[in-house]
Amino acid sequence: MSRTLATTLALTCIFGTLAGPCSGATGGALQGWDASILLDGKSTEKTAVPNLSVRGYEIIDAAKAIVETICPGVVSCADIIVMATRDAVALSGGVRYIVQSGRRDGTVSLAENVNLPAPSISVSDSIKAFSKKGLDSTDMVYLLVAHCSLFQDRLYNFQNTGKPDPTMDSTLLNTLKTRCPQNSTADKPVNLDQNPLSSMTVDNSYYRQIILHRGILQIDQELALDPLTNLTVAAIAKGLDFSTRFGQAMVKLGAVEVLAGAQGEIRRSCRAINTPLKN
Ligand SMILES: *[C@@H]1O[C@H](CO)[C@@H](O)[C@H](O)[C@H]1NC(C)=O
Ligand SMILES: *[C@@H]1O[C@H](CO)[C@@H](O)[C@H](O)[C@H]1NC(C)=O
Ligand SMILES: *[C@@H]1O[C@H](CO)[C@@H](O)[C@H](O)[C@H]1NC(C)=O
Repeated sequence: MSRTLATTLALTCIFGTLAGPCSGATGGALQGWDASILLDGKSTEKTAVPNLSVRGYEIIDAAKAIVETICPGVVSCADIIVMATRDAVALSGGVRYIVQSGRRDGTVSLAENVNLPAPSISVSDSIKAFSKKGLDSTDMVYLLVAHCSLFQDRLYNFQNTGKPDPTMDSTLLNTLKTRCPQNSTADKPVNLDQNPLSSMTVDNSYYRQIILHRGILQIDQELALDPLTNLTVAAIAKGLDFSTRFGQAMVKLGAVEVLAGAQGEIRRSCRAINTPLKN
């Protein structure tokens, strides 16, 4: 779950701003890296996010329950997400990077605030979205993710042709069609790295895969082809310091628009705000 959960949460925040709200105000509340994604409710952000993070939510709940029995009201859900991500990365062979703490939780979560990237977002628009959050194109290349609904079009109806994306490797195409059947309502998580030898570890193997046209998201595939990012992809694919660099990008990501001081709250349960929503 490491990279998938972390980056989905992050991208929800980052691309949320394309439509304005991640950094913007709804009822005066800031919405950034503030755990609003964990709130249960009929129209909360969670209902708008693809199903991939279900297991992630359970892990966060379990961690929160333990922390609350030891020191109640001190550790925010936002910090728990960031720390759980760090641990998941370390457990899957990545570097154990140092995270900052002290984030507070947001008090608003609305489905319309979530605007995940269109699978067809261009490399340059994606770079713009990241740069608004203080992350550069290299950070972006380290942080991208996948999910059936995000690339279904590449398997069955690329750019309304009724055919698959011609740039996708045919073996990968067949594997993904099995994982993501047409018209299926189950929006399954898909491992970004389809190389079976390394799919469970956080490493640079995926970058070697996209150079071989085995990219899952259109945007990922384009990262390997677009002159704005192809050199970064090539360097990561060859580099020996993936863990360290990925950790650095995650730390920057964890610092995007945090709530601190008197902002927000320390939630008692990660699934609900402490006080009722005003509207
Ligand atoms: C999926 O839905 C489309 C449009 O409703 C339909 O044309 C197609 O036959 C369906 N495919 C499968 C495999 O059910
Ligand atoms: C979401 O994930 C759960 C747990 O894996 C599964 O039971 C459920 O069917 C999934 N829902 C969708 C819409 O994929
Ligand atoms: C990157 O893209 C440029 C422009 O298309 C091309 O000349 C160059 O060879 C590419 N480099 C790599 C490493 O793919």
